[in-house]
Amino acid sequence: MSTREKIADLQVRGSIIEQGGGQKAIDKQHEKGKLTARERIQKLLDPGSFTELDKFVTHRCTNFGMVDKEAPGEGVVTGYGTIDGRLVYVYAQDFTVLGGSLGEMHAAKICKIQDLAVKMGAPIIGLNDSGGARIQEAIDALSGYGKIFFRNTLASGVIPQISVILGPCAGGAVYSPALTDYVFMVKDISQMFITGPQVIKAVTGETVSTEQLGGSLTHNKTSGVAHFSTENEQDCFLQIKKLLSFLPSNNLENSPKIEKSDVPERMEEELNDIIPDNPNIAYDMVEIIAKVVDNGEFFQTMPLYALNILTGYARVNGQVIGIIANQPKFMAGCLDINASDKASRHIRFCDAFNIPLVSFVDVPGYLPGLNQEHGGIIRHGAKLLYSYSEATVPKITIVTRKAYGGAYIAMCSHDLGADQVIAWPSAQIAVMGAEGAASIIFRKEIQESNNPVEKRAEKIAEYTERFATPYVAAQRGLVDMVIEPRETRPCLVNALEMLATKRETRPAKKHGNIPL
Ligand code: HXC
Repeated sequence: MSTREKIADLQVRGSIIEQGGGQKAIDKQHEKGKLTARERIQKLLDPGSFTELDKFVTHRCTNFGMVDKEAPGEGVVTGYGTIDGRLVYVYAQDFTVLGGSLGEMHAAKICKIQDLAVKMGAPIIGLNDSGGARIQEAIDALSGYGKIFFRNTLASGVIPQISVILGPCAGGAVYSPALTDYVFMVKDISQMFITGPQVIKAVTGETVSTEQLGGSLTHNKTSGVAHFSTENEQDCFLQIKKLLSFLPSNNLENSPKIEKSDVPERMEEELNDIIPDNPNIAYDMVEIIAKVVDNGEFFQTMPLYALNILTGYARVNGQVIGIIANQPKFMAGCLDINASDKASRHIRFCDAFNIPLVSFVDVPGYLPGLNQEHGGIIRHGAKLLYSYSEATVPKITIVTRKAYGGAYIAMCSHDLGADQVIAWPSAQIAVMGAEGAASIIFRKEIQESNNPVEKRAEKIAEYTERFATPYVAAQRGLVDMVIEPRETRPCLVNALEMLATKRETRPAKKHGNIPL
């Protein structure tokens, strides 16, 4: 072959592989409302930025007729490119090739870019659309999964790892996404489950549809396995780009800063009127956050799960912060099992990736109930204490209203290492609410009174006046500042600037033992 013929041969070989499983399979993929692996990569990355690796890799399986079976690209497209000009690694399983099933060499392609991503310190995004372990490859396929899980774990806390579920993801295959930092799903096309509807029917007799069992809403609202539910693939890719805009590329970098996008000293008069006079009336914590952060932009993570707590990202004076906030609008903002898990995970991610933590506190306590106690609220609640205490990034706490009892401590009090605790005059930092407290400590006095109702009201008022304020905590130095609510933004800007050089070390250890 002449050199020109060799080049032509290269082009033919390349274009055959780019056709994946062929036009019929591509049409089938489109009929399901799904894009192909290559279309997905094109839509996710900056135009023209993708470089493909390992295009010519093939399987070496000889079982069950596989000797003659072509698997173009080994059923997965891998490589690197950029998003908003920043390097990312990506793999996209190609369902048109043997159902995107994972064999030894398919796994080897994924492992190669996992290794590159860690060495280069850049995020990795996995687009999952697969029938699971390639059945013909048996133990080699399982070994491939094991190698991926191992690398997911090594990469954890080093680079952001994002999993996108764009088709089936079943059996043990779910555990790579589960080991990563963020899982995106798309309504109607994504499914994740350990065992499918038929196996469930056979084993437990339960009847359930695939969507009910492991669809996007199920994992975003109920199980907490996924972090984002998106309308379609295009929406999904936009959300991934948005998320990445807040994250550093690795644990040795800081998040990208945006210069001068909002006025740092902006006062928000409306904040002075936002807290209802009656402590039992709810308000929306999102409104408070929106008034404090740059341009009102608060990007929530897990927005459909544990609505009593808010987690997400925003910028303050251009600097990215991780937000944790009680939401009085749902269950009075109390802490329960799911809220503790949601918040702890966010805190640990932010701490691993140098993102300062800002906590907005209005918490009446832990949710009482048999379900919670038997579900292990003690163990789950402990995660919150652990993750706040463990975090060494700047930690700022803003108490807007209630901060009672154990929940006060858990929501990043000074004693858990908060660097700055800022309270509004409406803050009530106390061991419990005034009504409960007065009924207990003045019980005898109330019972023996000629008018117990009046006496009780009098004692509640006395307790409220004395303890349901920020000033007792401020007298002990457990609150650094009591400010007018409208001053919150400039105060936060100053605190973040002051804490920018924070260095805090912990005793050397292999790793801690977070109560899982
Ligand atoms: C080999 C597979 C495959 C697999 C699909 N295919 N899954 N080949 N191994 N796991 C092939 C099909 O044979 C078919 O090939 C092509 O991919 C498309 O599949 P269809 O069934 O036509 O597609 P669809 O109707 O959309 O159904 C998709 C599906 C179904 C629901 C995913 O294919 C399915 O149930 N697959 C098997 C799922 C499974 O049990 N996987 C193993 C799980 S155990 P042709 O040549 O006909 O086009 C596991 C363990 C992992 O994953 C453990 C890790 C620790």
